[in-house]
Amino acid sequence: MNQKNNPIGMIDSGLGGLSLFKHIRQALPNEDIIYFADSKYVPYGDKESDWIVSRTTQLISNLINDGKCKAIVVACNTMTAVAIETIRAQISVPLIAIEPAVKPAVGITLSKHIAVLATATTVKGKNLESLIATYAQDIKVSLVPCIGLAEKIENGKAHTAEVKSYLKNILAPLVEQKVDTIILGCTHYPFVSNIIQDLVGSDIQIIEPSEAVTAHLMRQLKRYDLSSESTNEGSHIIWTSSDPITVADVTFSLLGKHLPVKTTGF
Ligand code: DGL
Repeated sequence: MNQKNNPIGMIDSGLGGLSLFKHIRQALPNEDIIYFADSKYVPYGDKESDWIVSRTTQLISNLINDGKCKAIVVACNTMTAVAIETIRAQISVPLIAIEPAVKPAVGITLSKHIAVLATATTVKGKNLESLIATYAQDIKVSLVPCIGLAEKIENGKAHTAEVKSYLKNILAPLVEQKVDTIILGCTHYPFVSNIIQDLVGSDIQIIEPSEAVTAHLMRQLKRYDLSSESTNEGSHIIWTSSDPITVADVTFSLLGKHLPVKTTGF
């Protein structure tokens, strides 16, 4: 069966993955996208790994079975951190998963000291440990769990004094220790990258992997002959496990654009 015009499925614990969605929508304007936000259970960053693995695999199988998704993009570093091997073993469509941009950071640091801002689960996870062991052996890597930050952004507080002062406390020691590259290891954080840049100054580079993940998705679609043949603008919808009105409001505040939202039974 020709699956080329089927949607791409994206998934995050909540709406943070819209930072990646923005890049994908721009690079692949004719692709349909179903974005699943598990808003009922956000944040994932403080959940048990076993729970994240079973919830994530279930949701992805729903995207494939009910959404007829031809490829899955995991737009959540926390899911990648604990569930990626299980997901990979269970699904038969191309899988593209975001992970902290350690390799590019190592390529640009001059001070040889980089930092990763991420959820507690990502910071503790095997995925990050193995990225550091592979690419950053000769580099100092400060791991900074940002407890509660994704939740604040999810609750529409990205541009508040509360978030600014939270970030100030987290970032001050990194500046002092001469970190020159900060990796945003959670898809919620690009929505506060301007605030982070203002706080740390222009000598520190802030990086996140949305462009690289989008390029990888494009390569995978070509490789498996799954690129859409449609010449129309792709349709985009958010599926959520929670209240569609709140999700629609936060989506608008993050994207500056309205997207249709549908509540699913799962
Ligand atoms: N946006 C997610 C990530 O990239 C997860 C945030 C959370 O639910 O704790 O890690």
